[in-house]
Amino acid sequence: MNTIRLGELNVNRLGFGAMRIIDNDDIWGEPSDRKHAIKVLRRAAELGVNFIDTAESYGPHTDEILIAEALHPYPKGLVVATKCGLSRPRPSRWDADCRPEKLRKDLEGSLKRLRLDRIDLYQLHTVDSKVPFEVSVGTLADMQREGKVRHVGLSNVTVKQIEAARKIVPIVSVQNRYSLSDRSSEAVLLHCEKHGIAFLPWYPLGDGAALSVSKVKKLAEKLKASPAQVAIAWLLKKSPVMLPIPGTGNLAHLEENVAAAKLELSNEDFRSL
Ligand SMILES: NC(=O)c1ccc[n+]([C@@H]2O[C@H](COP(=O)([O-])OP(=O)(O)OC[C@H]3O[C@@H](n4cnc5c(N)ncnc54)[C@H](OP(=O)(O)O)[C@@H]3O)[C@@H](O)[C@H]2O)c1
Repeated sequence: MNTIRLGELNVNRLGFGAMRIIDNDDIWGEPSDRKHAIKVLRRAAELGVNFIDTAESYGPHTDEILIAEALHPYPKGLVVATKCGLSRPRPSRWDADCRPEKLRKDLEGSLKRLRLDRIDLYQLHTVDSKVPFEVSVGTLADMQREGKVRHVGLSNVTVKQIEAARKIVPIVSVQNRYSLSDRSSEAVLLHCEKHGIAFLPWYPLGDGAALSVSKVKKLAEKLKASPAQVAIAWLLKKSPVMLPIPGTGNLAHLEENVAAAKLELSNEDFRSL
């Protein structure tokens, strides 16, 4: 597998989005089959995935607890990236809360649940219109200075916000929605490319939607691959800073997605999508 740099860390260029191991629409509470969820996480690591994306808000908390249960003590080189700044008052709600006190509480909780002294990549999950962005980013910069966070990342941001954040702290990654079927973050991707910032597309399979696009299905047939593999291979070819984190709670889908790292699209096939 090709690799990508996150600061001085080097990870394989196909990660795993762990949100989907909680297999209900609201990403709330426990997975329907806890043992199976743990199996999926362990299988991802066995297949060579060494970048796992999670968040305090998945469950909330359950996702991080399961990751530690499945994989701690973590294999050498495994990077668990988590996120802060969302509150979950009830299943249907994902409310921005990037006040420094909430971010601090999230960090202490994540360190405990993930059984770590330091988070390798700590991402501000969203921008909270009620809190100056510089204050939220400044809180993550303080955490880094205190040694509790190795690298800082952002999520759901604009180019302007990335520029503002980079004046406060080095930013190693940006996580925005991006896939074959949703390219609205193209400007952010180009900005990341220009500055060597890893771009983590969330919904890389368009939450499944990218898989039913007829061009994708046709190309998959031609290449004897699956539509998901074509969608992932397209992302990998799209930019050298792309670090896809497809999510699944299904072992067969996991194997299929990881195998997509080996599928290289020709320039012609790439352009056809
Ligand atoms: N920063 C943010 O705001 C944000 C928001 C959302 C997600 N995320 C992160 O991004 C990661 C990826 O996003 P995502 O999981 O929502 O979306 P995704 O990877 O685009 O799609 C996941 C959906 O596709 C299905 N799927 C996965 N592999 C498949 C395959 N090979 N064939 C057919 N269907 C397949 C999954 O169902 P099965 O489980 O049945 O395979 C699931 O329903 C998440 O896990 C999470 O870590 C971040």
